[in-house]
Amino acid sequence: MLRRRVGFYVTTPIFYVNAEPHLGHAYSTIAADVFARHMRQRGEDVFFLTGTDEHGEPVELAAEREGITPQELADRNAPRFQEMARAVGATNDFFIRTSDPRHTERVAEIMQRVYDNGHVYRGMYEGWYCPRCADFKTERELGPGNTCPIHEIPLEREQEENWFFRLSAFEDYLKRLYAERPDFVVPEFRRNEAVSFIEGGLQDVSLSRAKLKWGMPLPWDSSQRMYVWFDALLNYVTALSFAREGEDLTERYWPYAFHVLAKDILKFHAVIWPALCHAAGLEPPRGMVIHGYLLMGEKKMSKSLGNVLDPFEVIERFGSDALRFYCMREVSFGQDGSVSAAGFEARYETELANDFGNLASRTLAMLARYRDGVVPDADPDPQLAEGEDGLRGLAAEVSELIDRAEPSQALGAAWDRVRRLNRYVEERRPWDLAKDEGKAAELDSVLYNLAEGLRVVTLALYPYIPNAADKLLDALGEPGRALAEFGSRGGGARTERTEALFPKLETAAS
Ligand code: MSP
Repeated sequence: MLRRRVGFYVTTPIFYVNAEPHLGHAYSTIAADVFARHMRQRGEDVFFLTGTDEHGEPVELAAEREGITPQELADRNAPRFQEMARAVGATNDFFIRTSDPRHTERVAEIMQRVYDNGHVYRGMYEGWYCPRCADFKTERELGPGNTCPIHEIPLEREQEENWFFRLSAFEDYLKRLYAERPDFVVPEFRRNEAVSFIEGGLQDVSLSRAKLKWGMPLPWDSSQRMYVWFDALLNYVTALSFAREGEDLTERYWPYAFHVLAKDILKFHAVIWPALCHAAGLEPPRGMVIHGYLLMGEKKMSKSLGNVLDPFEVIERFGSDALRFYCMREVSFGQDGSVSAAGFEARYETELANDFGNLASRTLAMLARYRDGVVPDADPDPQLAEGEDGLRGLAAEVSELIDRAEPSQALGAAWDRVRRLNRYVEERRPWDLAKDEGKAAELDSVLYNLAEGLRVVTLALYPYIPNAADKLLDALGEPGRALAEFGSRGGGARTERTEALFPKLETAAS
């Protein structure tokens, strides 16, 4: 779904500043970065946005609990999210904060347009309200005993006069949009959820809050504050107008947005957001991918449930590549999946340190020992190139999987080739060939194929483990980062040995 010759604009949700970043936030950021890096490898014109959602009741309540102002809380926590993005190796082009006046000014303009277009009216709202979600729950969403299904807290019945967005008027528009764009929402089972939500009949949604203090005033009624979700969703559009000093990127990247988010905010992105765009005279985004939850034990990891795995700690001990790899490999993107410290260490050891790290160090060591570090000239070996898990066609396969927004499968395809290369070493036993002068040509061929195989696999792995890939590609004498077909480089490259890419755990911990 992602292939095109226009801008490629990838976003994460903007995260609430009421809590510190945790692995769940890191997960979306890592996934978005994998898409961004892969698309840059293919020469796409990429813009990658992340940021923080700073208005609304969740932030107001958290600040109140701490006895500081919401702006102070935002100013304290937004840099933590910026650090998190940096720490996971995210290559975001901009970081938006919704308390930025450049954002709020644009939001006011766009919402005024929605109002002028007649999609807003005054009404009375009554419903079950979760202050942590900043959302009213419908009857079918409620947990047992009128609780929030996400935060597991009892909800209050609230009633107030506020402004409504006429979502119900966009039912036909949304049905048409989904009919015309089968891949507007992926994976398909999430798309089906969105479609059945729309087909179940849409109710208008409240657009403002009378009691809220920490939010943008409505441009046409300053006695009411804007419901945080309208201000938040619009970040995807407003950021483009000021992300780059002196330049407006809106035409270049809108509507080519591809949103990455988890299922908790599906309804906002898959239903309200395209309707809001249409109401404001904007094209809807290109599409979105909905991922599952990282679970610790059986529960969604979340700050309020107190079961978080601290990404900063993991990164400090193992490095960001290991975290990126683990997140994309352990949990099939789109599904929920459990993560644990033990599972993490097992994958680090068996896959990164053994499968990949050893393959790299062995290959470089043999090139150094047997051929003075120069990759011999030889032809691609059909034994490695063809058949199941053959090296040929890897770049195309990975690209196709990423186009279908399946980053775990793309990683799996590359990893199958890592294993294939390991089998090849074991089968061809270059250390035995080296003992026999008469087998010099055969040794040349095996070393060429290992170096070339490692090069194309590492290029495919680059979006997932960019630091290790950079080191290894440099060591292999590969200056580029574009995806490459097996056999597209001949011999002659000068290689050098590197330190262990993924040191064994004993060493990593000391
Ligand atoms: N501020 C809103 C989003 C506005 S977007 C216009 C919000 N913020 S949040 O801080 O609660 O972040 C929710 C998002 O964080 C999820 O959709 C997901 O991307 C990520 N995750 C938070 N916890 C997660 C897990 N345990 N597992 C996977 N993703 C998680 O909602």
